Amino acid sequence: MALFSTPEILINTKMYKLVAFDAYGTLFDVFSMGQLVENFYAVNGQAFALMWRDRQIEYTRLTTMSDPNPHGSKYYLPFWEITLRSLRYVCKRLNLELTNEIEVSLMHHYEQLASFEDSLSVLKVLGEKSINTAILSNGSSDMLATVVESNGLKPYLNKVITVEEVRLFKTAPQAYALLLQEFPFQKKEVLFVSSNAWDALAAKWFGFDVFWVNRMGHPFEEIGERPTYEGKSLTEVLSVI
Ligand code: LAC
Repeated sequence: MALFSTPEILINTKMYKLVAFDAYGTLFDVFSMGQLVENFYAVNGQAFALMWRDRQIEYTRLTTMSDPNPHGSKYYLPFWEITLRSLRYVCKRLNLELTNEIEVSLMHHYEQLASFEDSLSVLKVLGEKSINTAILSNGSSDMLATVVESNGLKPYLNKVITVEEVRLFKTAPQAYALLLQEFPFQKKEVLFVSSNAWDALAAKWFGFDVFWVNRMGHPFEEIGERPTYEGKSLTEVLSVI
């Protein structure tokens, strides 16, 4: 499902007609949650944010794999709900009292996560080069609409696509296939960009060329194929289009 689309699809003669971005961790800084967490709890915020993120992704896999029905998983929950439930889990696991006030505050911050410093400029340049841009995210429509708006990215995205309609999270192939349903392009004309190695790998398996944004200098996954490209920032995507 596309939250919104611009009426025109841009046609160019370049190799890539569409650059599609993952949202959380790629355009928006999920790990910035760690700093906020430290205002409430005497914990290592970074470790907390990582645990929260891991649990969130774990739940997306659990709900998708336990019923990989092409018409959607009966266990599907919106990503917003999954994010909330994983926060509750992490607090319980760490014996931290999650008051209603803290929960609301953390989730409010999550809704308005800041984008990385080069997210906007990269989208802008792609548009100037007549390359279509999109988000393909596990995120639910409301949270994506808010985070895109609050960072001023909306004018620079042709479409924001959520997996909500297929009720299967990435890395289900049906999720990546949404890009081909929303745009009249072939797989080889799409460059998929993600900072999540698992997402980059699955998109490659699906058949897209992939740019892995490896900001932290992490090793890539030990299974599957290497990404087509790798760089330390979103800006480096511009050197391969
Ligand atoms: C996204 C998360 C999972 O799909 O990064 O936006």
